[in-house]
Amino acid sequence: MKISLASKRVVVTGGSSGLGAAMAVAAAAAGAKVALNYSRSAAHAKSVVAQIEAAGGEAFAMKADVSNPKAVAKFFAAVDKRWGGIDAAINNAGMDGERALSWKVDFADWMKVIEVNLAGTFLCSAEALKRMVPRKHGVILNVSSVHEVIPWSGYSAYCASKAGVSMLTKTLAQEAAPFGIRVLAIAPGAIRTPINKNVWSDPEALEELKLKIPLGRMGEPSEIANMAVALISEVASYVSGCSLFVDGGMTNYPEFARGG
Ligand code: BGC
Repeated sequence: MKISLASKRVVVTGGSSGLGAAMAVAAAAAGAKVALNYSRSAAHAKSVVAQIEAAGGEAFAMKADVSNPKAVAKFFAAVDKRWGGIDAAINNAGMDGERALSWKVDFADWMKVIEVNLAGTFLCSAEALKRMVPRKHGVILNVSSVHEVIPWSGYSAYCASKAGVSMLTKTLAQEAAPFGIRVLAIAPGAIRTPINKNVWSDPEALEELKLKIPLGRMGEPSEIANMAVALISEVASYVSGCSLFVDGGMTNYPEFARGG
């Protein structure tokens, strides 16, 4: 069995760094044309595009805030203009936000996380579905997190947004299924990216984190990216309406391995 995305047009939001960059590169390596958006760093986005082109692939990057409906519409219109439509959308753009207990958090900061992670996923999914439904073809992969089910003190917006992404995924999957469109989510655990550098760059914090991971190590971005490629490919043609946890067992109640 060969996993191929040959001739597929794939949108990856937040494709300039971390998991998004890894997924963009992996999708291109599997033969896809990749459009990525970024919110801040044009330089990072350019370097992902350059990496894809150096490997013989095709990609372009555009600045777009996923929580802004007009910016999202513009981004998808740019993909249409270039490639005449899309075959898969990976809604990856997201942020943890600053750690703050709910009675201390700044509401604007709290809302920003919801807007980017949840509203952003909705807006990009809606733009993708507008194009996919009439063609009765396409797949949407939302990037959730183990925190769609694991509460995380100090990150109420993040956890609520990811639980929301999970239910959004299931609901959109129900809406889109009659058109042969799959909507699903990938739920990563602790993957070594810039988002959690504060943890993996501190030896004590890293040891504490490893206790929460049955496989005893953080994941690498490629371990999410490879699975994402499989999930948007024909290999996963019967998978829809669910989240696949790729977390080294983090959601498997690791404490119970040490007695009940
Ligand atoms: C967060 C990471 C965290 C991981 C496990 C992810 O969703 O973005 O910062 O390390 O969950 O807690």
